[in-house]
Amino acid sequence: MNIAIVGASGAVGQELLKVLEERRFPVSSLRLFGSARSAGSGYAFGGKTVRVEQLTADSVFRDTDIVFTSAGASVSREFAQSITRHGAVMIDNSSAFRMEDGIPLVVPEINGDDALGVLQQPADRIIANPNCSTIIMALPLYAIHRLSPVRRVRVATYQAASGAGAQAMRELEEQHRQIVEGKEVTVSRFAHQLAFNVIPHIDTFTPSGYTREEMKMHNETRKIFHSADLTVSATCVRVPALRCHSEAVWVQTGQPLGTDAVRDAIARAEGCTLMDEPDNNIYPMPLMLSGKDDVYVGRIRKDLADNNELDFWCVSDQIRKGAALNAVQIAEYLLRHAPEAFNR
Ligand SMILES: NC(=O)c1ccc[n+]([C@@H]2O[C@H](COP(=O)([O-])OP(=O)(O)OC[C@H]3O[C@@H](n4cnc5c(N)ncnc54)[C@H](OP(=O)(O)O)[C@@H]3O)[C@@H](O)[C@H]2O)c1
Repeated sequence: MNIAIVGASGAVGQELLKVLEERRFPVSSLRLFGSARSAGSGYAFGGKTVRVEQLTADSVFRDTDIVFTSAGASVSREFAQSITRHGAVMIDNSSAFRMEDGIPLVVPEINGDDALGVLQQPADRIIANPNCSTIIMALPLYAIHRLSPVRRVRVATYQAASGAGAQAMRELEEQHRQIVEGKEVTVSRFAHQLAFNVIPHIDTFTPSGYTREEMKMHNETRKIFHSADLTVSATCVRVPALRCHSEAVWVQTGQPLGTDAVRDAIARAEGCTLMDEPDNNIYPMPLMLSGKDDVYVGRIRKDLADNNELDFWCVSDQIRKGAALNAVQIAEYLLRHAPEAFNR
């Protein structure tokens, strides 16, 4: 497969390089793109150094099979046409196209088949990777949904600094250094100092009072589950963890469910790992799960307020399953189910 990564120097781009290598994705050629900032820098892949090219209106993707884009929504929008013009499949990590009709929004363990439709098209083959917090919640939620339809979800997220990119992660580290050294704290990537703080504000506020990140969790979960009745009410919070998002989730189902059945369903669900032994202080935490593939689920319990509700806690590395890994799994799904689409 001839592969390209747009946004190779970023948090997601760097993870894409790792995941492609680790999973031995069949890469016959690799091109890396960025802005003028990283153009010319080199990254190791497959025993060679690949140089970053500057992405411009003249960049041509004629012989490219799959382009992973992770350079933000405006770059995806600006370059989507030139990326997909000659038949390349664009797997986009940004929010640019997620809610557009005709563009599949895919978590392969849930709705992988949705991705296959775009392969019938000669061009404009765009597949959107969902928002990281949405993917992390969707996997255990879907295991429950298969037992009894999920009607209503309330969720509070605890999102790591790296969710805002590589520079945001460095800003959190720098803030800790500045505090220890008694210096003034620099704030540029977040609305407030994140070190020793939590910030109930991710992305911009909408007129409803929810942020755009919170609305993504609502809208995207409905699209992935093909369920227009489902409502997700989210409060998204930035916490001073470096990597891995955590989420406290309250789920209302059509029928009351027992915790044993839910534990069993989550333990068997692809992409989920049950980590639920509160008596031994065993539950998922960001510190121990950085670099892991699965969504880890614990603290499963019946809700005190409603017999049709269950509560759980989940943690996953949002740069992996929330972005790079999910994107590569979409590519693997296409190769497994429609290899003929890539015979040129
Ligand atoms: N971080 C996460 O956990 C996460 C999870 C899910 C989805 N996402 C999404 O993935 C995308 C990338 O996020 P990130 O965290 O990797 O951000 P990041 O660390 O800030 O990296 C941004 C990347 O975009 C490139 N870029 C910026 N402007 C460009 C331009 N005009 N032309 C070409 N490349 C350009 C940068 O290259 P230069 O260095 O050359 O400027 C860099 O490689 C975003 O849409 C984000 O919402 C992120």
